Amino acid sequence: MLVNLRDICAIAEQNNMAIGQFNAPTLEAMRAVVDAAEATGYPVMIGHAEVHEDVAPLDVVGPAMVALAERASVPVCVHLDHCEHLSYMRRALELGFTGAMYDGSMEPYEVNVENSARAAAMCHDFDCGLECELGSMGSREGGATAQGGTAEEAGAIYTNPDQARAFVEATGLDALACSFGTVHGIYKGEPHLSFDVLTQIRERVKVPLVMHGGSGVSDEDYHKAIDAGIRKVNYFTYGDKFAGEAASSAVDAARVAGDVVYWSKLSSVAYERLLEDFTQVIKVFANGADPVA
Ligand code: 13P
Repeated sequence: MLVNLRDICAIAEQNNMAIGQFNAPTLEAMRAVVDAAEATGYPVMIGHAEVHEDVAPLDVVGPAMVALAERASVPVCVHLDHCEHLSYMRRALELGFTGAMYDGSMEPYEVNVENSARAAAMCHDFDCGLECELGSMGSREGGATAQGGTAEEAGAIYTNPDQARAFVEATGLDALACSFGTVHGIYKGEPHLSFDVLTQIRERVKVPLVMHGGSGVSDEDYHKAIDAGIRKVNYFTYGDKFAGEAASSAVDAARVAGDVVYWSKLSSVAYERLLEDFTQVIKVFANGADPVA
């Protein structure tokens, strides 16, 4: 069933778990997200990032995402990720998205506040929940070209806990994306998360907190972050990489066997690998909570 960002985060809060938000710019990924959620019985968020417009135009994938969510046996939120243009956000809302993120993290604080407040008013008119970001992950969400590395290399600015309280009050947002050591893309070595920063934000801010750069983190760190208040984890790069590797191995095997390489076969290989990965991480994000469906 299709649910909004506030309601899905409330389930996470009640169960001390996090909801996975999986960016799904392909049909294989879209199906794998919902199938993994149904197989495990946990809620999920299916994401479309504005940066993926070139591979997955909103007008094409948006209706498919909403249809998949509506017929799912578990709660599913259809979420617009890292949106920088309010006109683009309006198009997603008109298509029935139930969650959206306005990303003004690269703007001066005052501009971020002003645009986030405008986004909140617009989203709430559509009964859609709004997430905003304060602090900066450094490198942007770049889809397959995300820079990765370490938080220092990416130039991350950790979220200021006192400013976070003021930001939430001034904007009326429903969920807050925080910078505390994760980065988008492939990590260089183990990520070092600041649970102290996260705990300080949690003490000051009552809305659900969101981890971006959420693929490539250890299970132990996921659980620590969830226990410190993370309710939504954004996950893309590593699942996309695993699917790419599986498809690449299938191409190699077909070449060795002298077989024709059919795209539809590769699509199935990618779907199966995504399903396996998403199923595993959804269970990790559940943090020991019972399935809801
Ligand atoms: P990863 O690059 O770690 O998968 O993060 C994705 C993300 O945060 C999308 O918003």
